[in-house]
Amino acid sequence: MKVFVLNGPNLNLLGEREPEVYGTTTLGDIEKLVKSRAEDLKAEVDFRQTNHEGVLVDWLQEARGQADGVVLNPAALSHYSLAVRDAVVACGLPVVEVHLSNIFGREPWRAKSVVSGVADGVIVGLGPLGYVRALEALVAILES
Ligand code: DQA
Repeated sequence: MKVFVLNGPNLNLLGEREPEVYGTTTLGDIEKLVKSRAEDLKAEVDFRQTNHEGVLVDWLQEARGQADGVVLNPAALSHYSLAVRDAVVACGLPVVEVHLSNIFGREPWRAKSVVSGVADGVIVGLGPLGYVRALEALVAILES
């Protein structure tokens, strides 16, 4: 079972960026955490981050032929990118959306993700643990 874990803009700065919101764990730490759980689950993880909307769309299209499912944190693109939403639909795979912070308890405009309606599930507010839970959920969906 192969899973793409895709991260959007500014998530490369985790650990330094607004630590009061996102904590001090780096994206590299999250990658290790996810890969370690993936080993237990006998899943292979391809973990990536981009600051570019089009690259995220390209990766979702690539997932179509190469992955069984996707864990996706579209970051700020969640709130406005219809291209990412359409690419989630087009990839035809189970997708679990994840947000480190609780987007419902922050600025009102963050409470709306245009991606959520086409994701199989959404996990918010659990910090790095949310990625692990998203991977577990995806594996459960794929096994069912
Ligand atoms: C985020 C929440 C988004 O609103 C924000 O733009 C991010 C990170 C999260 O993981 O909590 O960059 O997706």
